[in-house]
Amino acid sequence: MSTLQKAEAAEHALSEELDRIVLKSVIYTSGERDPRQPVVRPDNGKLVMMGHDPRLPKMPERPTLMDFFRLRFGPTQHMMQSARLAQKNGAGEKVVMACLVHDIAIAGFIRGDHGYWAAQLVEPYVDDEVAWAIRYHQALRFFPDESVGYAYPQMYVKLFGADYKVEPYIERDAEYARQHEWYMTSRLICVNDLYAFDPTVRVELDEFTDVIGRNFRQPREGLGFDASPSAHMWRTINWPTKYL
Ligand SMILES: [Fe+2]
Ligand SMILES: [Fe+2]
Repeated sequence: MSTLQKAEAAEHALSEELDRIVLKSVIYTSGERDPRQPVVRPDNGKLVMMGHDPRLPKMPERPTLMDFFRLRFGPTQHMMQSARLAQKNGAGEKVVMACLVHDIAIAGFIRGDHGYWAAQLVEPYVDDEVAWAIRYHQALRFFPDESVGYAYPQMYVKLFGADYKVEPYIERDAEYARQHEWYMTSRLICVNDLYAFDPTVRVELDEFTDVIGRNFRQPREGLGFDASPSAHMWRTINWPTKYL
């Protein structure tokens, strides 16, 4: 058996233990698996997963941003350290809020183009400037700005290679962002982001209860159950294996 076949067999065994059949969305397997290949649904008389997946911690009925931080997002220290650094550097609360959620797409949803995904997730609930800044940190991170002491991250050389060149859309969006009146808000995410990886510092989410309270319009019905344009994305994070 190849590594992939072994992984698939293990996964099959795992899903056999569940009361319901789980079929992963294409996005979770594409790349590892050619999405054009037919998907075989195990025919074992079980129903399909249509809501909460018992392998995950259960979310409250009306989940808040903090519930997503605690129960659905992967490592969140990076974002919280960035937010704390922004505070320490005297940034305004919009920047602190933006830093706090700037990488939620990586932590809980989709990695590629994470700035765009994160912006869309929070857009209905934060100030336009906050969402805008999150969207464009994605592109601005690749371009230095000496006026604020921001250099091209050394980590990117390590991650992408010394000769990596961004795609034209990143260049276009960075150029657009540079001309925008909110440029500095987005740039400050990059500035506070860069030095935020410190394994010895431990930040607690409670530190930001007030910042979130003032800058994030938590929907009464719970994130995912309001009628906002991104509610479905929050629902998918809550129920990632829902069949339809
Ligand atoms: Fe980021
Ligand atoms: Fe980041």
